[in-house]
Amino acid sequence: MKRVVYARRGGLEAIEIIEDEVPNPSTGQVLIEVHRAGINFADLMMRQGLYGGAPDFPFTPGYEISGIVRELGSGVTSLAIGDRVVSFTGFGGYAEQVVVDVERVWPLPEDVSFDAAAAMPVTYLTAHHMLVHLGNFKPGDTILVHHAAGGVGTATAQLAKALDSGAVYGTASPNKSDFVESQGMIHIPRGEDFVKRIKKEVGGVHHALDPVGGKHVMDSYRALRNGGRLYVFGASSAVNGPKRSMWAALKMWRSTPQFNPLKMMNSNKSVFGVHMGQWKDEDVIREQMVSLSKMLELGLIDPVVDSVYRFEDVVKAQKHIHDRGNRGKVLLDFSPK
Ligand SMILES: NC(=O)c1ccc[n+]([C@@H]2O[C@H](COP(=O)([O-])OP(=O)(O)OC[C@H]3O[C@@H](n4cnc5c(N)ncnc54)[C@H](OP(=O)(O)O)[C@@H]3O)[C@@H](O)[C@H]2O)c1
Repeated sequence: MKRVVYARRGGLEAIEIIEDEVPNPSTGQVLIEVHRAGINFADLMMRQGLYGGAPDFPFTPGYEISGIVRELGSGVTSLAIGDRVVSFTGFGGYAEQVVVDVERVWPLPEDVSFDAAAAMPVTYLTAHHMLVHLGNFKPGDTILVHHAAGGVGTATAQLAKALDSGAVYGTASPNKSDFVESQGMIHIPRGEDFVKRIKKEVGGVHHALDPVGGKHVMDSYRALRNGGRLYVFGASSAVNGPKRSMWAALKMWRSTPQFNPLKMMNSNKSVFGVHMGQWKDEDVIREQMVSLSKMLELGLIDPVVDSVYRFEDVVKAQKHIHDRGNRGKVLLDFSPK
């Protein structure tokens, strides 16, 4: 079987495809024939060596997949060979076959496609975790989300609608205005003063989702109303094109604000640091995945897929994201030809 590897830290040239043995499932594991693997922005960052918690090089990235169960390890009774499933792989999902712990695998309803399934786990779970698990979201709450046209951005917009939110402001590249508005968000072109606009229109939002890092974090904080919550869940400003830029990474790191809880008291604002890859409570993940699967089945959420590339074109797929071209999720097709 074939799998994608990051041979070393670097640009797109560090991506290789290698031949490997089909892995054997141990006790409590299943072997899955992968049909789709989701690409996350985090995959680009870990290739550049800018992602906390990534394995040592060389390694195979890939947080999420959909596919078919082909083998059961001993003790597995909750799934059967031939089941269509979706899974959090942790790492290693960019491969034709993967072995995963059964707790991280969920059966797919018949009418949910492999595309929709692989586009869901990371983005929807992250958005749901911030708004619902951490954020005590209430109907009518207002939201600010950055990278609004991307994976987490579109997931946030759909969850907001399902949860009966108030206005959702989304920043994204200027040429994505029609798309962002089509997702039910109010588009603010990237680079415009979103704090001023939000203050003027709604006085401040209840929830601000910031995956940018650096001084942008303080602007998101300033866009909150009294009692608002800021979730810092990424550092995309550390990335400047496919090649690693130590300058961009350092600038992001040095300009990220430090918050003084005594000052925060006066405005009742909260700041959460969020990294789903480092979340340790499996019950919280499972509970949220069950809610999301129900929402998917009921059609309350419907992942937006920008494009599907054959895995042999993984370099083109990642370049598309570096070029800020995606509107929704980018997937890799590993299905047998
Ligand atoms: N903490 C967590 O657990 C967690 C989980 C999932 C995602 N995240 C974070 O959430 C953010 C969104 O992730 P995603 O996977 O859904 O990706 P995504 O939004 O689909 O990422 C691509 C988009 O990000 C925007 N962007 C901003 N800075 C960029 C840069 N330096 N290079 C290229 N594009 C850039 C571009 O859109 P515009 O130009 O339109 O803005 C691009 O189209 C990322 O920062 C990611 O690390 C965190």
